[in-house]
Amino acid sequence: MTDMSLEIPALFSVQGKTALVTGGSSGLGLIMAEALLRGGASVVIASRKQSRCDEAKNNLSEFGECHAFAADMTLPEDRQALCAYVDEIFGSRGLSILVNNAGANWGAQIADYPDDAFAKVMNTNVNAVFSLTRDLLPSLRRAAIAPDPARIVNIGSMDGLHVPIVQRVPTFAYSASKAALHHLTRSLAVDLGSQHITVNAIAPGFFQSRMTDYVLKEFGADIAADSPMGRAGEPQEIAGALLYLVSRAGAYTTGIVLPVDGGTHISKGRREWMQDV
Ligand SMILES: NC(=O)c1ccc[n+]([C@@H]2O[C@H](COP(=O)([O-])OP(=O)(O)OC[C@H]3O[C@@H](n4cnc5c(N)ncnc54)[C@H](OP(=O)(O)O)[C@@H]3O)[C@@H](O)[C@H]2O)c1
Repeated sequence: MTDMSLEIPALFSVQGKTALVTGGSSGLGLIMAEALLRGGASVVIASRKQSRCDEAKNNLSEFGECHAFAADMTLPEDRQALCAYVDEIFGSRGLSILVNNAGANWGAQIADYPDDAFAKVMNTNVNAVFSLTRDLLPSLRRAAIAPDPARIVNIGSMDGLHVPIVQRVPTFAYSASKAALHHLTRSLAVDLGSQHITVNAIAPGFFQSRMTDYVLKEFGADIAADSPMGRAGEPQEIAGALLYLVSRAGAYTTGIVLPVDGGTHISKGRREWMQDV
């Protein structure tokens, strides 16, 4: 006898789901938006620059139903407009998947680390995620059912799990903000579980993007050496983690922080002597 619940393509399918990916116009957000579209979901991407949103939407439309909305997640009026747009596009279907991916970073030595940069990073990576999530709850609840909960996925970072050093310049606010986002994920998971909404975080290691272009170019060899796997991540490796968390396969997983970093945060990298073992 065949157990239909173990039919593998259906287990990881996002067919017919609705999704919002913040920061979906470039980097990891663009990859995740493409993965959701290829899997059959309808997707709204949102980021600040209209031109980047339009360009990404044009490219992504090849893979499915994609909408784009220009909004700054740190501005309450922009978040409100985005929530109204999501309601207009998805209506009574509600929002099945929210990917809080938009993020900011700042690097400087401690004596020169500006207060306003610290505040901006915290505001983008933590405060705005909380506010947007709260404001989208009515829409998420409409899509949520016990056997297939609505899903929130926060994009944290391995830098919220360890103290990063390879880029040479300290990123105090970034690490603190990602650690805060990981714990916010746990608090939200406890609060929203009974409403059939899961909340998880992905903590990526280094992936090619606008944010990491410079460090990967300058310190690529150190980044590789710092990882037990000896390399940076590939697009399909972030896409796969997301698809697990937002498909039926991940329906009973909530409150986790899933590192996708080749083991970098638990290791000081490979050692010369390991080649001989
Ligand atoms: N790439 C990595 O190696 C890596 C590693 C760990 C964690 N992450 C995390 O992954 C997420 C995506 O980063 P990425 O590497 O893909 O960088 P990216 O290519 O620079 O993408 C960032 C995206 O966020 C948008 N954005 C930034 N601030 C925003 C705001 N206030 N409101 C709305 N949208 C905003 C940007 O578009 P606009 O500029 O047009 O707004 C862009 O679409 C971030 O949370 C980052 O911390 C990345």
